[in-house]
Amino acid sequence: MADSNRNVEHLVEDLAEERPRHPEESASPSKKALPITVEDLEADDEVMALANTANTNLGVLGFTEHGPRHFRLVSRIARNVLRRLGYDERLQELAAIAGYLHDIGNVVSRYDHSLTGALLAREILLRHKVPVEDIAIVMGAIGSHGDDSQRLGEAVHPVSAALILADKSDVHRSRVRNIDPGLFDQHDRVNYASESSFLRVDPEEKTITLELTIDTEISQVMHYFEIFLPRMLMCRRAAEFLGCDFHIDINGVALL
Ligand SMILES: [Fe+2]
Ligand SMILES: [Fe+2]
Repeated sequence: MADSNRNVEHLVEDLAEERPRHPEESASPSKKALPITVEDLEADDEVMALANTANTNLGVLGFTEHGPRHFRLVSRIARNVLRRLGYDERLQELAAIAGYLHDIGNVVSRYDHSLTGALLAREILLRHKVPVEDIAIVMGAIGSHGDDSQRLGEAVHPVSAALILADKSDVHRSRVRNIDPGLFDQHDRVNYASESSFLRVDPEEKTITLELTIDTEISQVMHYFEIFLPRMLMCRRAAEFLGCDFHIDINGVALL
């Protein structure tokens, strides 16, 4: 426990470092037509095989669900974040693609899965003849989404910011694989306690709010914060990258 506290402190210090960010200088996508949509990836045998094995491997290690349900949800939310904020359709599609592929690196290892995932995505997207400029944006987004190497990913592009927000807001009961509550770890308990989660994007107010309904019989709100603090910090930074403030609302009460 002492170790994990130290890690969180270290992460927070890392993030508190005030370095100016320049979202306006983000890379431009290609002007060539995008030859695929995210549906083509959902039907791709290699993607399916890698994703399923990645999810199986994480199950062996006792992690929550990181399979097709998670990919589809993250893909949809990432697209919606950019759509609601008025980004063009090209970037929306790239966010959907990054969302669908973001966790395939877990097939190599949980550790540094963001980095391996970015490289696997490159191969897959090259095979589909996606322009290299677009692949580069997806690679940056996938490579920057993780918090698994004691470093927090930081948004490098609007596509990247949308992916972080979408991924970190997927907290839900259905992700818990363990059917025996007696064997729940802290992550299981917090996920299991979450009955609904919704990422609300308000373009007028310039706010992005994670709305959660938590069964406090199962997990206290404080447990959620203890476990998810690094993720919430990533979300705040990602929202700021998109020119928005980030809020959390749990059981109808604004907590952040
Ligand atoms: Fe991930
Ligand atoms: Fe994920």
